[in-house]
Amino acid sequence: MIAIRSGTELEEIRRSGELLRDCFEAIEPLLRPGVTTGALDEAAERFIRSRGAIPSFKGYQGYPAAICASVNEQVVHGIPGPRELLDGDIVGVDIGVFRNGWHADASRTYPIGAVSGTARRLIEVTREALDLAIGEAKAGRRLSDLSHAVERHATGNGFSVVRSLVGHGIGRRMHEEPQIPNFGAPGRGPVLAAGMVLAIEPMVNEGTHEVFTLADNWTFVTADGKLSAHFEDTIAVTDGGPVILTR
Ligand code: MF3
Ligand code: CO
Repeated sequence: MIAIRSGTELEEIRRSGELLRDCFEAIEPLLRPGVTTGALDEAAERFIRSRGAIPSFKGYQGYPAAICASVNEQVVHGIPGPRELLDGDIVGVDIGVFRNGWHADASRTYPIGAVSGTARRLIEVTREALDLAIGEAKAGRRLSDLSHAVERHATGNGFSVVRSLVGHGIGRRMHEEPQIPNFGAPGRGPVLAAGMVLAIEPMVNEGTHEVFTLADNWTFVTADGKLSAHFEDTIAVTDGGPVILTR
């Protein structure tokens, strides 16, 4: 069952989302060559706790950090550490916030210094794919309309979408129903209704859609070592259309 949230509940998630947006703003100045992914993690965790909230990811199924930082061929769930970001890298930063009993989840992929044209294009297409999917999140549409919008935009631009990872409902728990694939035919799955809250998260690869997990049992990487980008926002379906809660 997909939860339907009341206006006051949506307001709570919006406040978690606002905190998350502010957290991204707080760490963005650090995103320069030489910064370690561990420094980003520390800064994000400090910011979240300073606002009286908790990083959703820390301790989730044993996950050891507050954020995920996924560099270049890393798709998602990269564990922060001593790795320094270099000029020309791209890094996906994924953060979850738990505030007053409500989660919000978002991710952005950033260029570090001067990146290749392909990297820039991949980032742009992934962000556009997310925006197109959000645009489909209207009451009366079917869930796979979102999935299809992502796949169509990614493949139409010569990229591929990761098939083994999905977006999700979110609210009291970080992962709720429904699962939201980033591919598939339109017009399938549950009918969207006002009050549903979704974390939509396209993962788009430069080359093959295939991924595997590193020995740390968390980090997903592309099977061919080519680049991957990830964007995510938490959104609400409302009678007035989709509302983005994390921007
Ligand atoms: N945005 C990711 C997701 O929805 C974050 C989970 S990372 C984890 O799955 F470490 F918390 F698992
Ligand atoms: Co998520």
